[in-house]
Amino acid sequence: MDRPTYLMTDPACFDVSYRINPWMDPKAWSAADAAAARDGSAALRAALEATGANVEIIGAVKGLPDLVFPANAAVVLDGRVLMARFRHPERQGEEPVFRAVFQKLKSRGLVRDIVDFPEGVFHEGAGDAIWDADRRLFWCGFGPRSSRSAIPVIRKTFGHETVALELATERFYHLDTCFCPLAGGKVLYYPPAFTPDALATLRAHIPDSQRIEATDEEAAAFCVNAVNLDARIVMAKAPESLRTKLRARGYSLTEVDLSPFIRSGGASYCMTLRLDRTSVPAAQLHAAE
Ligand code: ARG
Repeated sequence: MDRPTYLMTDPACFDVSYRINPWMDPKAWSAADAAAARDGSAALRAALEATGANVEIIGAVKGLPDLVFPANAAVVLDGRVLMARFRHPERQGEEPVFRAVFQKLKSRGLVRDIVDFPEGVFHEGAGDAIWDADRRLFWCGFGPRSSRSAIPVIRKTFGHETVALELATERFYHLDTCFCPLAGGKVLYYPPAFTPDALATLRAHIPDSQRIEATDEEAAAFCVNAVNLDARIVMAKAPESLRTKLRARGYSLTEVDLSPFIRSGGASYCMTLRLDRTSVPAAQLHAAE
């Protein structure tokens, strides 16, 4: 089978110079943070490569610090790329840069086609549309960033079920900050991030035995924003409570110091974008080999 392939961005131009979420404080940003960001990004890349993954790097662009979060660039499944439309003007300049990146990937055969949301709809990519390989559906966040009206577009574009979850707070503004499906059907999530309706929906789809709740401390450490490959989870530095919880369920953790990125409101999941995800059930994939 092909190796999992992730996009990441060179962090050379990363900083916190504007504020579009409550984690961001431009006054608190220093040169030491920039150096730590380079180390953190390199460590994340190494952790992914250690799991056997391939990492493609996007070049940094001056004036676009949040380009380091390619999860927000698009929703990608079965080789189809549905391009993001960012809500905040601060990030809209990333759209043409990511488009050019996908066009190049297409010419290399790494993705198949590139499609767009209708105008007037906001959607921030895989940050708000998370593929659940076990349930074979997209969990879709909306509210602070992505529009609710984007969700039927995702369903039509990929031909798979979508479950809409409204986010209740500006602190957990993308679904990937508070919701992470894990291989085997378990889900790590942070209940206070959701509206009562969204919580009811989530719990109706996921039995209690498969729900792992993150505490305030675990969510604030951006550990729910994790990359999961089989039994392995790559995440920001975790409180002991979370290590214990996940190990007890058979997952092995690799932790990376991503503190400069957390100061922008992101961590391992949104610093990556998986390019080779397919909706074909694993059993069928193996049968075809
Ligand atoms: N500063 C970025 C923003 O507010 C962080 C994005 C993190 N991405 C994510 N999917 N959680 O847009």
